[in-house]
Amino acid sequence: MTVHADLAQIPALNGRYDLYGLVHKGLRRMQCHVLPRLGANDFADADTTGKLLADMKRLLSMAAAHVEHEDSEIHVALQRYSVSTDLVDTQHDDHRATFKLLEEKIAAVEDAQPSGRAEAGRALYLAFAAYVADDFAHMHEEETVIAPILWTHFSDAELHQMEMRIIASMPPEENMAFMRVMLPAMNPSERKALVGGMLQTMPPEVFHAALEFAIRPSLTAQEFASLRADLGHAA
Ligand SMILES: [Fe+2]
Repeated sequence: MTVHADLAQIPALNGRYDLYGLVHKGLRRMQCHVLPRLGANDFADADTTGKLLADMKRLLSMAAAHVEHEDSEIHVALQRYSVSTDLVDTQHDDHRATFKLLEEKIAAVEDAQPSGRAEAGRALYLAFAAYVADDFAHMHEEETVIAPILWTHFSDAELHQMEMRIIASMPPEENMAFMRVMLPAMNPSERKALVGGMLQTMPPEVFHAALEFAIRPSLTAQEFASLRADLGHAA
C-alpha cells in the first residue's frame, strides 16, 4: 500500500467533529508500543514472551473490532450518498487477512520448539511491522480523504451519533479497553472534552467505574492530576 496523499496538504479540522482522530491516536500509540517490544524480545524467556503475545492478541482483537465499527457505521453511511468506499473497503479486507496471518504467526511462536522460537519471533516482528506501516497509511487516508467527505455530508451531531452507536454496540469492558488505549494518546484538551462529556452524561456510578477502571489506570499520576484540575476537581 502506498500513501498517495499530498503530505503538504493536510485538511484542517476547522472545528469539525474529529470522528477518527482520538481512536486512531490510541491505535497508533498501541502499535508503536508493541513493535519495539517485539523487536527487543528474548523469545527464550517464556514469561515476557507470553505477556507480549497476550498484548498482541488484544491489539489485534481491538483493531479488528475497530475495522468492523468503521464498516458498519461510516462506510455504510457514505454509500447512502453514493460515495465510493472501494479503497478503504479493500484496505479493511487486507487488514482482516493480515489479522489472520498475524494470529497464525503468534501461534507459530507459541508452538515452536526452543531452537525455532527466535526465527518464528523474527517472522512475527517483520509481519507486524509491515502491518503497522499499512495501517498508518490507511488511517492517514481516512483522516485526510474520508473525513473531509464525511464533513460535507454529515453534521457534527450526526457524526457524534455514529460514534455513540459504535459505543453502544460494545459491552462495557470493551469500551473500557478502548478508553484505556485512547486516553493516554490524547492531548490535555482532548482528555478534558471527552472525560468532561462523560462526567455530564453518565450516571454517577457508571462514571465512577470508568474513572477507576479506565481513566485513572491509563494515565500517569501527573496526567490524572492535570485532568482533574482541568475539570475543576469535579471528577
Ligand atoms: Fe479504517
